[in-house]
Amino acid sequence: MKSRSLVSINDYTKEEILKILNIAAEFEAKPEPELLNGKVISTLFYEPSTRTRLSFESAVSRLGGRIVGFTDSSSSSVSKGESLKDTIMTVSNYSDLIILRHPLEGSALYASEVSRVPVVNAGDGANQHPTQTLLDLYSILKTQGTLENLNIFLVGDLKYGRTVHSLLMAMSHFNTTFNFISPKELQMPDEYKLYLNELGLKYYEHSDFTEIISRADIIYMTRVQRERFSDPMEYEKVKNIYVLRYAMLENTKANLKILHPLPRVNEIHQDVDKSEKAYYFTQALNGVYTRQAIIASILGLK
Ligand code: CP
Repeated sequence: MKSRSLVSINDYTKEEILKILNIAAEFEAKPEPELLNGKVISTLFYEPSTRTRLSFESAVSRLGGRIVGFTDSSSSSVSKGESLKDTIMTVSNYSDLIILRHPLEGSALYASEVSRVPVVNAGDGANQHPTQTLLDLYSILKTQGTLENLNIFLVGDLKYGRTVHSLLMAMSHFNTTFNFISPKELQMPDEYKLYLNELGLKYYEHSDFTEIISRADIIYMTRVQRERFSDPMEYEKVKNIYVLRYAMLENTKANLKILHPLPRVNEIHQDVDKSEKAYYFTQALNGVYTRQAIIASILGLK
C-alpha cells in the first residue's frame, strides 16, 4: 500500500483490506499523537461533505499531522478556470498525500495519474467511495465478529449511491449474500450484478423489504442522491420510497445492525435512533480510525 493511490476499493486485495482493518483497531486501542509529525495532507473537496472531510481532518490532527486544502472549490483558483490537472500538480508540491472529492466519475483516477504524491478518492460522482467502504467493513467486523457469510441488505438508491458500489465489491471477498432493495428507477447497475455473477455470488432484487427484514445481518440504508438527478420530478417520485421505522425491527435478528453512510434525509426515521441496532453514528466515528490506518499505510508509517 506504501506510496500507492487509493482510487477504487479493488486497488486493495482481501489481505490488504484486512490489514487496514487491523491497523484501524490498533489506532482505536492506542492513539499515536505524533505519528504524522512533519507530514502535510491536502483535502480538496469539490463537493460538499461533513463526515468524510472532517473525519479525515480529525484523523490527521489526532496523529500530529497538518491539513491544507479547500472545502469549496469556489474559494480556490478553480473558480478562475484552473483545471483539475493543474490544481493537482500544484497541490502535490505542497503535501505528502491528496484526498480528493469530485463530482466527476473517474476524476480520482485521472488525478492519481498526474499527481506526484498518492491520491485518495473521497468519492468521485456515482462511482466509488473506497474509504467509506473500509470504515463500513470495520463497522461490520466490529459488530458481527466476522465479515464472512453475512446476509446484507442494500436499501435505497443503488444506482447513484457510490458507497454501495464500493461496498459490494469489497464484500464480494467474503461470501456475502446480497439483497438489493430499490425502486426500478434506482436499481443496482448491471455492471455490478455482472461482477457478482462472474464471482458466483448470490444476489436477490426486491422492491420492498418489510417481509424479509428478519433475515438481515446488516441493513445498509442509503439516501436518494438528489444531486445526481437531471430531472427534479424523477427525484420527487422516489425520494421517500423507503423509511425504516423502529416498529419494523421487532422480529429482526439479535445481531442485526443498521448502517448508513449518512447524511440521512427521511430514510431512517428518528425513532430508530433509540434502538441498540442503530449503528450509524458509531459507524461515522469508525471513519477516524479507518482513515488513520489508510493514511499511515500509504505514507509507509504502518
Ligand atoms: N458518508 C459520506 O460520504 O458523508 P459526507 O458526504 O458527509 O462526507
